[in-house]
Order: sequence, then structure tokens, then C-alpha cells
Amino acid sequence: MEVLNAHAYDWSKPPLGRKFLSKILGNGLVTIEGSEHKQQRKLVMPVFSGKIVRDLVPLFWSKSMALVAAVDRQRQLSPDSVVEISDVASRATLDIIGVACLGKDFSTLEHEDHELAQVYKSVTDPKEGVFTFLGLLGSTLAPWLVRWQPFPSIRRFDKATTNLHNVCARLLAEKSEVVKEETTDKDIMATLIRTAAFSDDSLKGHLLTFLAAGHETSATALTWALYMLSKHSDKQSKLRVACQDLKSHAGEMDAQTIDSIPYLDAVCNEVLRLFPPVTATSRVAVRDTQIGDTFVPKGTICVVVPWAIQRSADYWGPDAEVFLPSRWLGDNGKTGGAKDSTAFLTFLHGPRSCIGQNFARLEFKCLLAALVMNFELELRNAEEPVIATGTITIKPRNGLELIVRRYS
Ligand code: HEM
Repeated sequence: MEVLNAHAYDWSKPPLGRKFLSKILGNGLVTIEGSEHKQQRKLVMPVFSGKIVRDLVPLFWSKSMALVAAVDRQRQLSPDSVVEISDVASRATLDIIGVACLGKDFSTLEHEDHELAQVYKSVTDPKEGVFTFLGLLGSTLAPWLVRWQPFPSIRRFDKATTNLHNVCARLLAEKSEVVKEETTDKDIMATLIRTAAFSDDSLKGHLLTFLAAGHETSATALTWALYMLSKHSDKQSKLRVACQDLKSHAGEMDAQTIDSIPYLDAVCNEVLRLFPPVTATSRVAVRDTQIGDTFVPKGTICVVVPWAIQRSADYWGPDAEVFLPSRWLGDNGKTGGAKDSTAFLTFLHGPRSCIGQNFARLEFKCLLAALVMNFELELRNAEEPVIATGTITIKPRNGLELIVRRYS
């Protein structure tokens, strides 16, 4: 907690990792540091406040319905009703963040060849581990060296991320024009542009960050949730029954209703505990500091690993590795039975914690409830081990193929 909270600004992300991340996320909240971060976070915070995010639930729900339709289409096209779910999950969350951020419907669920979906797929594909490693290497090189070095992967990564920056610059320019003409748009970027507190470069950084940080993580959580529920059909059925009352809300949804199902909350919390999409994050001490009574010299590296802490029996008891949504019910609702909430690090804690946590939690519940209400899900290859891999977020290495049957 001292690294993440009490002495958070004594630590920063290591420069190489930051440089690599900024290729995808730009210079937004994830990659800026120190007083600049403190100031920018204060300015951005209001757009992620309670009511604004809760008012996004109808959007989350309508895109959950679009996801159901997309899964249905893919299911019908497959002779065995098999759907690879992680790709379609990414498209759903990209479409959501597009509308929330820019008021723009990318409709990637309907248009698979959309350029943003393609670019994100190429830079986050878990099969491209070497690609991302080389991307990390490439981000240390001067731009002219990138063109001359011998690895095609580095050039591919550079091309994809340059394309991403260009697309975001264009989207931002379009948004700025709209905001100049009329002031009724309520999306995140319109609100930030209207404050006139940001330079063009920092607006582009925030847009790149929200688009990437706000969709890949959520899609990863949804993929692991569907994996767990496909492995545990009893819990899948229990969740379906718990969500039955939502059927009468097929066309509309609000935050109060989606928040009213304890078992849905419990399943989401348990998935986020066992499969934190950001499995680890590192920090380097930017000045001499301390952890407890221990002196820590400047330059010390510290790695925080939610994946390990959240599977540790020391914090979660002997059944720490078991998928047990019920640990989040009743008296243990807030902590899942851990000694306190600091054992849950999926969104971290403190001034560098996830600013989109409330957004992500509501979005996750809508998407998961909609799928479980409409389909029965089964692993296509139950015997095959699923290998978790990736660089920024950790997903099943070969995607997640499910046999999907309509439930009515
Ligand atoms: C299940 C979904 C999500 C998870 C697990 C997650 C997790 C995280 C984590 C662990 C961090 C800290 C990273 C670090 O310091 O190394 C973070 C930061 C951040 N997240 Fe999320 N996130 C999720 C969804 C979202 C969404 C939906 C948005 C925006 C709409 C978002 C926006 C951000 C931003 C802007 C930061 C940087 C905060 C700062 O440093 O001030 N995230 N997230």
C-alpha cells in the first residue's frame, strides 16, 4: 500500500515500459508521471464520476444486445455452433468506449474490417508475444533506426502504432470541430475539450489511453468470465436464474437494476480476483523512500503482481485458487473474505488506481448478464489446457472457442 498509496509519487513506471506503453496509449494518464499526472488526473476525474458513469448503463446494455446479435450470427455460421469469444468481446468493448469517449459508433461488431479493431488486434494479440517483445525493443530505438533494423516485427509494430496515433489525431480533430459548432455532446472527449484545460497533444494522449485501456481490459475480463462459467456449468445456470428478472428489461437498463443482483456481482468480483486482466505492474523509486520502516534507495524496482496476491492462501484462505463466487455473498460482500480490501488489486489502489473502475464494473455486468441470459455456453475443447499469455493484458493464447446454444 505504501508503494501504491501513501508514497505513490515516490515511484514511477520504469522508463522503458512507459516508452513502450506510450506507443499504444500515447501520453495519457497511464504513462505520465509526477506533478503532471497529479494535475491531469484531477482534471479528468469528473468525467468518470458516479452519476456520469451510471448514466452510461443504457449504452452498455444496448451494446450488450448488439454483442448477443453478433454471437448469434457467428454461431449460426458455424456448423458446430462454435464462436471464438475473445475477438467478439473486444469488438463489443471497443464499440462501447467509442460511443462513451467520442459519441461515435465504430460498429466493429457489425464491420469486422474496421481499421481500429484491426490495429488493436494486431498490437494486443497474445499469439504475438515475440512481436510485442520486439515492439518493446523497438520503442528504445530512434525513429530512423526503426526503418533500418533487421526485424520485420519491429517495423510492423511501429507501423501499427503510428497508424493508431494517426487515426486518433483524426478522430480528435473531427470531435473538436463538432464541439466548436454545438455544445450538447456529453461524451468524455467533448467534455474535456470544452474545459479548454488541455493541449491538443494531451487530448490525443487521453483519447489513445481511454480507447485502449478502456476496452482491452474489459474484454479480457469478459473472456475469462465466460471461460470460468463454461467450466462450471452449475454456476452458469445459477447466474442465469439470478438474471431472469432482467428479461423484462430487454430493451432498456439502468444502473440500479443491473446493480440489484448479488450473484452477478459475486461472479464478476470472483473473475476479477482470479483473472486480473493487468496481472502485474512495475515501479521504480524516483527518490529515496521507505516501505514500512525499511529504507528503499532511489532506483529500486518494485513489481506488484495482483495475479499472485489474489491467488495466495495467505490472503484468501486455503481455497484461494478455487472459483467460488459465493465468497463475495453475505457478510463478506465487500472483501470476498480477505482480511481487507487491499488484498484485491485488480484496479490497484491510490492515486494511480484505475480511473475507469466504476465504468468497467457496470459494463462487465451488462455484457455478462446479456450473454448468460441468452446462451448456454460450453468449452469446445474441455480437455485442452488454456494457456494464459500476453504482454499488457493476459488472455487465452489461442482465443476462447465456445459451443454456444440459444437459451430461451
Ligand atoms: C476490467 C477492466 C479494467 C481493469 C482490470 C483495469 C485495470 C487497471 C489497472 C490495474 C490500472 C493501473 C495500471 C498501472 O498503474 O500499471 C489502470 C489504470 C487506468 N485505467 Fe483501467 N482497468 C479497466 C478498465 C478501464 C476502463 C473501462 C477505463 C476507461 C474507460 C480505464 C481507464 C484507465 C486509466 C485512464 C488508467 C490510468 C489511471 C492513472 O494512472 O491515473 N480502465 N486500470
